[in-house]
Amino acid sequence: MFNGKNILITGGTGSFGKTYTKILLQNYKPNKIIIYSRDELKQFEMANIFNDSCMRYFIGDVRDKERLSTAMRGVDFVIHAAAMKHVPVAEYNPMECIKTNIHGAQNVIDACFENQVEKCIALSTDKACNPVNLYGATKLASDKLFVAANNIAGNNQTRFSVARYGNVVGSRGSVVPFFKKLIKEGAKELPITDTRMTRFWISLEDGVKFVLSNFEKMHGGEIFIPKIPSMKITDLAHALAPNLKHKIIGIRAGEKLHEIMISSDDSHLTYEFDDYYAISPSIKFTNTHNDFSINALNQKGKKVKDGFSYSSDNNPNWVSEKELLNIISHTEEF
Ligand SMILES: NC(=O)c1ccc[n+]([C@@H]2O[C@H](COP(=O)([O-])OP(=O)(O)OC[C@H]3O[C@@H](n4cnc5c(N)ncnc54)[C@H](OP(=O)(O)O)[C@@H]3O)[C@@H](O)[C@H]2O)c1
Repeated sequence: MFNGKNILITGGTGSFGKTYTKILLQNYKPNKIIIYSRDELKQFEMANIFNDSCMRYFIGDVRDKERLSTAMRGVDFVIHAAAMKHVPVAEYNPMECIKTNIHGAQNVIDACFENQVEKCIALSTDKACNPVNLYGATKLASDKLFVAANNIAGNNQTRFSVARYGNVVGSRGSVVPFFKKLIKEGAKELPITDTRMTRFWISLEDGVKFVLSNFEKMHGGEIFIPKIPSMKITDLAHALAPNLKHKIIGIRAGEKLHEIMISSDDSHLTYEFDDYYAISPSIKFTNTHNDFSINALNQKGKKVKDGFSYSSDNNPNWVSEKELLNIISHTEEF
């Protein structure tokens, strides 16, 4: 599907973008992979690793629609990964988060239309479901923009979908590198916000493969959610440092005890497939596809039960400490 194609990744120098690039290069022969982000140092460092002839590096901000549109000339597929994603930073700088995560999303949509991009997938997060912090709220607004864009698309060809998942093992600023750093520095204890806390858990590779597969399955308008395991934060701390004590520091502002990917309010819109769920749009599209019980690969899903919810504490699938260590040891940190 990606052979000979031009693919643009906003936020391409981030944890997701670099892994996506690596997996694309390993498995396909794209004509161009365009990395779109702001910081020249990150691009310089990435270009030292990924220097295949198909790689292109564009400095640009998703807040700058004109630049985005220039970068998208001739592009077939867009992955929108650029975001402000640190919860406390977003709380302290709300308008900056809104400009990047919401205005930036609309700019991506407009630039896709202007350039007749075929398909675009935007990354979402479990924090967008029943959000309690601004980061989650902006990602929910972004999800809504991408879903609704399929209606605006009308006879335009671009189709937009969303991929939503939880904590990515080893991504920049996440709990695994944080605990590892403390352990390396000789910490006597690891900070735990609450012993009950649970999180969804996905490796960067699995997140990338999930997004890649969604390009084939999408009609446009779905929010795709992979079936992934949950873990307890205390199990993670114990797996990484069995002899270290845990210091309970209390839940932080904007944090939840458990994350949720599908709320019971969305159960009437949700279909279950073999290894993922798809939330169908809450609006009816006028000119485009509206049957989301069958994906574009002709695989059939079934409606979940009324009142169904998918959260990190009611998940039937849990990782053991042994599995956690196995995943972490196979995870490259970007
Ligand atoms: N990591 C997770 O645990 C997780 C979980 C679920 C969902 N997600 C979602 O996955 C996506 C990617 O996350 P990630 O972990 O790869 O993040 P990351 O490592 O922090 O990378 C973010 C990327 O976005 C770029 N960026 C930020 N602001 C930008 C702007 N205004 N214009 C253009 N580029 C901008 C950054 O580069 P510059 O700073 O150089 O611009 C960087 O390339 C995000 O949408 C996030 O919400 C992440």
